[in-house]
Amino acid sequence: MNVTVVGAGYVGLVTGACLSEVGNHVCCIDSNEDKILKLQLGEIPIYEPGLDQLVRSELNLERLHFTTDIAHGVSFGDVIMIAVGTPQDIDGSADLSYVREVASTIGEYISSFKVVANKSTVPVGTGDLVTREIRNGIAKRGIECDFAVVSNPEFLKEGNAIEDFQKPDRIVVGVEDSIAASIMRELYTPFNRSHDRMIFMDVRSAELTKYASNAMLATKISFMNEIANLAEQINADIEQVRIGMGADPRIGYQFIYPGCGYGGSCFPKDIGAMIETGASVGYPLKILKAVRQVNDKQKNILVDKVIVEYGANLAGKHFAIWGLAFKPNTDDIREAPSLTIIQGLLDCGATISAFDPGANNIARQLYKSEERVNIVDDAYDAILGADGLLVVTEWKVFRSPDFVLIKNRMRSAIIFDGRNIYDPEVIKAHGLSWHGIGRARAVFSAPAH
Ligand SMILES: NC(=O)c1ccc[n+]([C@@H]2O[C@H](COP(=O)([O-])OP(=O)(O)OC[C@H]3O[C@@H](n4cnc5c(N)ncnc54)[C@H](O)[C@@H]3O)[C@@H](O)[C@H]2O)c1
Repeated sequence: MNVTVVGAGYVGLVTGACLSEVGNHVCCIDSNEDKILKLQLGEIPIYEPGLDQLVRSELNLERLHFTTDIAHGVSFGDVIMIAVGTPQDIDGSADLSYVREVASTIGEYISSFKVVANKSTVPVGTGDLVTREIRNGIAKRGIECDFAVVSNPEFLKEGNAIEDFQKPDRIVVGVEDSIAASIMRELYTPFNRSHDRMIFMDVRSAELTKYASNAMLATKISFMNEIANLAEQINADIEQVRIGMGADPRIGYQFIYPGCGYGGSCFPKDIGAMIETGASVGYPLKILKAVRQVNDKQKNILVDKVIVEYGANLAGKHFAIWGLAFKPNTDDIREAPSLTIIQGLLDCGATISAFDPGANNIARQLYKSEERVNIVDDAYDAILGADGLLVVTEWKVFRSPDFVLIKNRMRSAIIFDGRNIYDPEVIKAHGLSWHGIGRARAVFSAPAH
């Protein structure tokens, strides 16, 4: 099958490469010329494990090609997938301008039957909007042309995106046209072999399924963070509580890790968009408002702990940050807790050295005019002379560090463990001080600083 993917970001690029790998011919389009030039040369603008090899191999096989030419893309694909960004608008709702622009361009060029599948995360009703935009474009040209708009939300996780795409838990397709349904089934057949993972429903329900899934996951995180903060107040240990809770199969162990908050390009904006959807129909979403409120506070929790240790005036203090990406195995720092933490420390007068195994380049760009933030190339350079080490992202490389080196290099050997990745007893044995999340019993202070 010929497939066009519009938007060559985290979702579009992975989708294009994975659909190409199974034998389709794929055209990936992006409006960003630099990005397309790089991709044509096999240079991958994002960090996603395995993606560079896959894209290069598909380019070499000439099954995958990149262009900014949307007219070519519209005529090329039997299926046109929309995978452009849907960032948060000023009022919190989803900004649909990119989706609208793509839909109207499809309307300008479409001349034979196409399935237009929306992979972007979009509010309920966007399928209707895309249909209207395409229809308007067709009407303006005074021609007749049939098409079907399908909702095909994406559930991949950055950092594990290729495997998630190749072995999805479910493939949700919102479709109200039987020909489009069978084309979508054919497209996904290679990813649907061991058992049927395809779930067909109406378009609006598919759009809501994506938001509701992200909202549920964010709720689990904020719930657990709230219980962790309570545990700290009443001298319980959230790690023991977590293990006890997760043993109940109705709860399970996934997504109940306490930490310094969720971030990324999806949860914050999707929760915001859902709250706005509720407000727009006069049905305020109370749980999701609380989820967001708890998370906003949680992103500051490590700074709060630093202030408890040192006071609110951090002038002359220097801190190391390990982990800038919103989660391991990605270079994505959009809405990452690290950004809130860095700002919080700067506001109190501190200086910062930070290291991330994947996001250093992007962070360097972001902080290029901020002299008080130094992005370094080695984790152990970051801690040199530091008054505290804040572990913000649980990359594997941070899990078993050289505690002797940490103690020797830091001015005050205090670890603020924002993901509870260290065993407090091991840290204590090395003579370091440690603060975790929701682990009052395990907190111990350094001898002196
Ligand atoms: N990143 C994730 O983990 C993830 C997971 C599931 C769903 N989603 C959803 O998928 C969508 C895309 O997310 P992403 O993270 O891939 O975004 P992204 O910002 O990485 O990529 C979007 C791309 O679209 C391009 N673009 C914008 N307007 C365009 C246009 N008119 N024509 C061609 N290209 C255009 C941009 O240049 C950019 O390269 C969003 O709605 C997001 O919520 C993301």
